Amino acid sequence: MLDGAITIRELGDHVGETVRLAAWVTGSRPKGQICFLLLRDGTGVCQAVASSEGTEEAAFERAGHLHPETSVIVTGDVAEDDRAPGGIEFKVADLEVVGESEDYPIGRKEHGVGFLQEVRHLWLRSPRQTSILRIRDTLIRGMRDWLAQQGFTNVDTPIFTPSACEGTSTLFEVDYFGDPAFLSQSGQLYSEAAVMALGKVYCFGPTFRAEASKTRRHLTEFWMLEPEWVWADLDDICRVSENLVAAAVARVLEENTADLEILERDPAPLEAVVPPFPRMTYDEASAFLVEAGTGFEPGSDLGAPDETALSDAHGTPVFVTHWPSEIKAFYMKRDPDNDGQVLAVDMIAPEGNGELIGGSIREDDLDLLLGRIREHELPEKDFEWYLDLRRYGSVPHGGFGLGLERFVGWVTGVPHVRETAAFARTMDRIRP
Ligand code: 4AD
Ligand code: MG
Repeated sequence: MLDGAITIRELGDHVGETVRLAAWVTGSRPKGQICFLLLRDGTGVCQAVASSEGTEEAAFERAGHLHPETSVIVTGDVAEDDRAPGGIEFKVADLEVVGESEDYPIGRKEHGVGFLQEVRHLWLRSPRQTSILRIRDTLIRGMRDWLAQQGFTNVDTPIFTPSACEGTSTLFEVDYFGDPAFLSQSGQLYSEAAVMALGKVYCFGPTFRAEASKTRRHLTEFWMLEPEWVWADLDDICRVSENLVAAAVARVLEENTADLEILERDPAPLEAVVPPFPRMTYDEASAFLVEAGTGFEPGSDLGAPDETALSDAHGTPVFVTHWPSEIKAFYMKRDPDNDGQVLAVDMIAPEGNGELIGGSIREDDLDLLLGRIREHELPEKDFEWYLDLRRYGSVPHGGFGLGLERFVGWVTGVPHVRETAAFARTMDRIRP
């Protein structure tokens, strides 16, 4: 911590005092005998004014020649001023340059997104990007706090895994001391072990999919939050997931008003996120989509236009339950009333943001599960430990996975998930 320094956020508590600030200069406007500086420090922005009268001579000279993103330490008086942002003006008495910043590549002019992604390490400093990162942080805290209140224990799962959870076609293979291993697609299988120890758990961490999809919702590395609990039924999965989502969205509305404004995000659709969310079966959704003429083929997975049509019809998140077993994962439990369907549910986010959550009841019968593993041609020996969970005190259980970047994308209203993580990884980007 810099001795005696305060943050921009704290300025309001120090009106009439002389304080020190460590900040970056985002703009400098010399105007004869005065010079206006815009400063930011991660907690806020403020206007500072240097003047030939009030500022030490060499410091006044320096103030007039500051490049954007120069880091500085300023000393001065805090005064109220209605015309300044935040109603506070900082009167610079002295100014020290900490780090020069010549030819900062991001200017005032509009840049293409390709260029901004190249300089993502600098783009992060812009107000929109810091607002997105703060909202991401609030959503994470909102979800973790809500789960803790509900009695879920956080148990994190490994990233190096010997087998696939979500199909073998999207695995990232790594060389694990001469043997093939894969980056985790989901912590679910391990959470299923942990629930038999703790009853209600969740894992939260990076997951990886080698998906050759260049859409605005697909990343190759994304963070997934996965609650899992014993004695869950499909109704519980809907209730837990809708309350989790609503609690986290409410937290953003409470804590991030200024960020939503910077992002020009209309809060009305977020205020409408009130459980219970509408539910429909896959067959009902299918009939609706055929009628709506989205080009949907019954029996297939939902495409982006189908998801958008379903969510547009409601204006809130929507659940689709009871999916055809052929298009879902091996571990999902069949509907006892219809063997062609699994007890699975997806939550579709509003405003065209697509599938936010995928969940299901898990097959808890040893022989049925073994049959599915064989049908899916998965390597049986790598699933022996997973089958043990059905050999020793198996109980019904289920859970779901929520994709954090899609959640951030929806809540912030940004059009592409590449802006929802500090350094997003997509099919065509692994740098910086
Ligand atoms: O529907 P998915 O594949 O479900 C699972 O992985 C389960 N094992 C979860 C569970 O039941 N514990 O993925 C869950 C969510 C999706 O709804 C989506 O939000 C997100 O993860 N997701 C992605 N987000 C960004 N880029 C991708 N390529 C994603 N794939 C899935
Ligand atoms: Mg899914």
